[in-house]
Amino acid sequence: MSSQIKQFSVQAPSNIAFIKYWGKHGRQLPNNPSLSMTLKKCVTKFDVQYELTEINQPCVDFLFEGEIKIPFKERIENYLMSIDDIYPLAKKLKLQIESSNSFPHSAGIASSASAMAALGHSLAYIEAITENKSVDDLPRRASFLARLASGSACRSLEGPFVVWGKSIVANSSDEYGLVLDNVHPVFTGLKDSVLIVSKTQKSVSSSTGHQLMNGHFYSEGRKVQAQENFRTLLAALTNGNLKDFGEIIENEALSLHALMMSSYPSYILLAPESLQLIQEIRKGREETGLPMYFTIDAGPNIHLIYPAEQADQVRNFIVERLQEYCVDIIHDEAGCGVVRVNG
Ligand code: DP6
Repeated sequence: MSSQIKQFSVQAPSNIAFIKYWGKHGRQLPNNPSLSMTLKKCVTKFDVQYELTEINQPCVDFLFEGEIKIPFKERIENYLMSIDDIYPLAKKLKLQIESSNSFPHSAGIASSASAMAALGHSLAYIEAITENKSVDDLPRRASFLARLASGSACRSLEGPFVVWGKSIVANSSDEYGLVLDNVHPVFTGLKDSVLIVSKTQKSVSSSTGHQLMNGHFYSEGRKVQAQENFRTLLAALTNGNLKDFGEIIENEALSLHALMMSSYPSYILLAPESLQLIQEIRKGREETGLPMYFTIDAGPNIHLIYPAEQADQVRNFIVERLQEYCVDIIHDEAGCGVVRVNG
């Protein structure tokens, strides 16, 4: 085995879930199938240097935008220790990662999905190179490894639409994300304008939120609802039915937040401005007939989703009616997943 230092760069996007992953069991296995859109502009870049040593312990140096980040170093080292049984190189790895985000720090965009997707791809790539394996299976192995670091990250390796979790989609799996085929052209280049109402760190992490689904009064109902919404959304994506699509993604977003509010302990991540935006979007949709719909992550920011064809009209609507509630807006759209350079 070579101990030579090698390097490459990886760029991985964030994703926005339309059917939400909420609740997990076993080794990062989801309680229900989820479906997301991979973003294009909100990406994390990793510049990676690595070598293989005989130290028998992973060693990671992690810099975020030039600054050493000990919590992230420890998180990755602990993660590597935890996957030792399925990733045999884990304890031999000496990694140096210089990371940066294309989106503003603390913009309320989930950076763990993009960062852990970049990590999953990096590890799968190092493994393929070291073991002289084909890189054809890389997205699947990368997604599998990313999932073990953060569930939603496994949907960021490819795009534009990805399914994670055993479902009616052929070959879908609880262990990795799978690109959804046969999506209607009306969804090509689908837009996501992220309406940022607050940049403060969320008060309760997603990991804690997932845990609170264990023993939740609505947990069995949630599984049934997610399966049902998944089926309807899949049909809408295949047939080009924007109205059904919109109804489901809004229902999923509000159900996610209802589950948080009805957990013990209960918590609320929505801000007053989030509700004002929801009302304005629904009212504006009635008035203008524009096919624009919202979804929400585990935070207060609103993702406004609309087809590329209506982009100009929706952008005008954002300026006229929504901008006043926002501290920032990021205009993103459907993307294709990880890109690697110099390697
Ligand atoms: C609300 O993937 O961040 O964004 O697996 O514990 O890292 P861990 O959780 P995470 O949960 C994301 C939850 C969500 C919905 C979704 O993306 O599907």
